[in-house]
Amino acid sequence: MAIPKRVLITGARGLLGTPTTTLFRAAQGVEVSAVGHLEFDITDEAAVCRHVDAFRPDLVINCAAFTKVDACEEQHALADRVNGYGAGIVAAAAAAHGARLIHVSTDYVFDGQATRPYREDHPTGNPRALCAYGRSKLLGEQRVAAAHPAAIIVRTAWVYGEDGPCFPRTILRLAGERPLLRVVSDQTGSPTYARDLAGALFELARTNAQGVFHVTNAGQCTWFEFAREIVMQAGLGTPVEPIATEDYPLPARRPKYSVLDNGRYVTTAGRPLRPWREALSEYLRRAS
Ligand SMILES: NC(=O)c1ccc[n+]([C@@H]2O[C@H](COP(=O)([O-])OP(=O)(O)OC[C@H]3O[C@@H](n4cnc5c(N)ncnc54)[C@H](OP(=O)(O)O)[C@@H]3O)[C@@H](O)[C@H]2O)c1
Repeated sequence: MAIPKRVLITGARGLLGTPTTTLFRAAQGVEVSAVGHLEFDITDEAAVCRHVDAFRPDLVINCAAFTKVDACEEQHALADRVNGYGAGIVAAAAAAHGARLIHVSTDYVFDGQATRPYREDHPTGNPRALCAYGRSKLLGEQRVAAAHPAAIIVRTAWVYGEDGPCFPRTILRLAGERPLLRVVSDQTGSPTYARDLAGALFELARTNAQGVFHVTNAGQCTWFEFAREIVMQAGLGTPVEPIATEDYPLPARRPKYSVLDNGRYVTTAGRPLRPWREALSEYLRRAS
């Protein structure tokens, strides 16, 4: 299928929205409307509809979200409004104009109790077992599916990149400031480079796929292993020590295990995203 010609990207100045915008802008014959919070709030239905009416996209990619996981615990009403109802508003506007939709969601919709990679059809967590961010993103998936049944929902995890605060950036800074880093070693997931994920959104936009897709870089690790790899690849000597989640208490409960089975994406796109260590090398090259 040909790449859509008119693409509206929300959350376009975020970690994922920025490389997604760059990639679609570089595609021949594609016109992109890249909007952030400054242009309009996705919870403002009239503003969303006005923009969609004026631009007439044939594809909408919703990268806008309230992503401060710990802040969502206190500001859960805002999280539900943006990640839940706002996502539904964007989906309804896309559907009303016959535009396709790619909506981005998260591994935090699972409770983290699994012991092997989550497939798309694995039941999502009981909302009471999820953190407020996970609950709000689950609400978003439900609203999107109801408003736009043909939507693609891409669940991803542990995203990092050049265009915003992220784990590798924090580790690089702390490794320069502290004699020793202590990082949790009992949460397992798949670090995902925003540029690679943007490439996956591009691949999916070229198919007539619908429904939920799990997309991360290949492989898995703990936060401790991720930090150790960042320090090692950056050529820093700072020691990294494993600690338990209870030794680093945070307001929001994180899933212990949130590796996502990418099988459906691999079948659809023809290949997996590269292994996370390779992707990290590129990030570090660009960051240096
Ligand atoms: N980062 C991760 O580790 C991760 C993991 C799994 C899934 N995801 C999902 O990936 C998607 C992209 O996240 P990201 O990492 O790129 O996050 P991000 O860097 O925080 O980008 C999100 C963007 O959305 C904008 N935004 C927030 N509220 C908005 C509103 N009400 N109206 C319009 N725009 C609004 C933000 O603008 P302001 O900053 O100006 O408010 C920000 O530029 C999200 O759906 C997120 O849930 C992220």
